[in-house]
Amino acid sequence: MEREQQRFIHEHPKSQALFERAGKSLLGGVPMNWMVKWAGAFPPFVREAQGAHFYDVDGHRYVDLCLGDTGAMTGHSPSATVQAIEEQARRGITLMLPGEDAIFVGEELQTRFGLQYWQFALTATDANRFSIRLARQITGRPKILVFNWCYHGTVDETFITLKDGVARARQGNIGPPVDPAVTTKVVEFNDLPGLEQALAPRDVACVLAEPALTNVGIVHPEAGYHKAMRELTLKYGTLLIIDETHTICAGPGGYTRAENLDPDFLVFGKPIAGGVPGAAYGFTVEVAKRIVDQQSLEDCDVGGIGGTLAGNALSLAAMRATLTKVLTKEAFDRMIPMAERWTAGVEKAISEFGVPWNVTRLGCRAEYLFSPQPPKNGTEAHDAMDFELERFMHLYAMNRGILLTPFHNMALMSPQTDASDIDQHTRVFREAVQELVVQA
Ligand SMILES: Cc1ncc(COP(=O)(O)O)c(C=O)c1O
Repeated sequence: MEREQQRFIHEHPKSQALFERAGKSLLGGVPMNWMVKWAGAFPPFVREAQGAHFYDVDGHRYVDLCLGDTGAMTGHSPSATVQAIEEQARRGITLMLPGEDAIFVGEELQTRFGLQYWQFALTATDANRFSIRLARQITGRPKILVFNWCYHGTVDETFITLKDGVARARQGNIGPPVDPAVTTKVVEFNDLPGLEQALAPRDVACVLAEPALTNVGIVHPEAGYHKAMRELTLKYGTLLIIDETHTICAGPGGYTRAENLDPDFLVFGKPIAGGVPGAAYGFTVEVAKRIVDQQSLEDCDVGGIGGTLAGNALSLAAMRATLTKVLTKEAFDRMIPMAERWTAGVEKAISEFGVPWNVTRLGCRAEYLFSPQPPKNGTEAHDAMDFELERFMHLYAMNRGILLTPFHNMALMSPQTDASDIDQHTRVFREAVQELVVQA
C-alpha cells in the first residue's frame, strides 16, 4: 500500500498541486464530501472524459468502470445527449412550464416500466423522498420499511441499520432530524418471515426496495422472493416502491421489466439524462387516483414535493435524447456481454490463486466481494467488506489506468466499453491478486 501510495503521489504532481490549492477554498480540498474517500492520497483531478474513458490533469488515461457511480452509465458525454443539450440550452433552460419533451419522456417511461403516471425530480434522492411522502399521505400510515445496508440517496428515513437485531441510526448518520427508528423499520433482504412480522401491524406506508441490493456489493433476491414480497405488501396494504436507480443495469426497463415486477411506485435517476441532473418517479393508476383525491390546489406548491428546477426543459431534453438514442436495447446488448467478460476475468484469477472471494453480476454491473460465497443479505455483504484491502485494490487499479466504483468493488459498463478495456482490468486484477498472495 505504501509503495502504491508513493507511486500515485509521484505520478500525479498536477493533481496534487490542485488539491493543495483546493484546500484553501473547499472543505477537505474537494467539492463534495465523499471525494475525500478515494483511495489515493488525493483524488486525481479530471481534465476531460469521453465515452468509457477519462484523462486526468497529469495526462493519465483511465478506463472508467465507475462511470460517475451510474450517473454516466451512458458513457461520458454521449453525442445524442450533447446535441440535445446544446440545442435546448439555446432555447431556454428552465421555465416552470411544461413542454412537449415532458410528455414524450412520460410516454417512453410508461412503455419501458409499465407504470402509467410520471413526475420528475432532479435527483433519485428526491424522487425517493417524494414517493415516500406520497405513500405516507395516501395510506395515512407513519412508517416506511427498508432493507438492512440499503442505500437510496440522502433520504433521512433510510439511514438505519440493524445492530444485533435492533434498528439503530446508521454509523456516520450526520445530524439525523429524528431517530430513524421512529420513522423506519428495517429487515434483512431475503427474509420473508421478518418482512411479514414488520408489515403485520399495518403501520407501514411503503416498502422502499432496490430489487437487488447494489450498494453493499450485489445481493440477489432468492427465487420467489419478489413474488412473495409483493403478496405480503398487498396483504397488509403497504405500497411497494422499487428504486431502479442502479438496477437499470439489468436492461432498458430495469429489473422490473426483466423480472416482471409489479410495483406501486418506481424510481429512476442518475443516468436518465446522460449525467445532466434529472430523475423520475412513476406510479399506477390506482395510486394516482388516491393522490388526486387528497390533493388541494391551493396548497400543492408547498406540500413538500417538487423543486423549482424539477422538470426543467434542459433535463427533459437530455432525458428524451438519452432514452431514445443512448440507453437503448442495442446498447444493453453490447454492455451486458462486457460485464460477463469482466466477471469471467475476475473469476479466473480468484480460482487461479485460490483467494476466498466471489464475483457477482447483474446485467451490465459486476462486483467482487471478499467472501467465498455470494451474500444472501446486507449483513453478509457488509461483513465481507474490508476497508484496507478494498483501498489497496482501488489504488492498485488506479495506478494502472482503471477507475473502479469507490466504497465497494464494482465495475459498470457503458455502451462504449470494449473488450480491450475489460482485458486491461483482467490483467491488472490478476497482478494485484498475485502480489497479495505472494506477499502473504
Ligand atoms: C439505489 C439508489 N437510489 C438512489 C440514489 C440517490 O441518487 P442521487 O445521489 O443521485 O440522488 C442512489 C445513489 O447512490 C442509489 O444507489
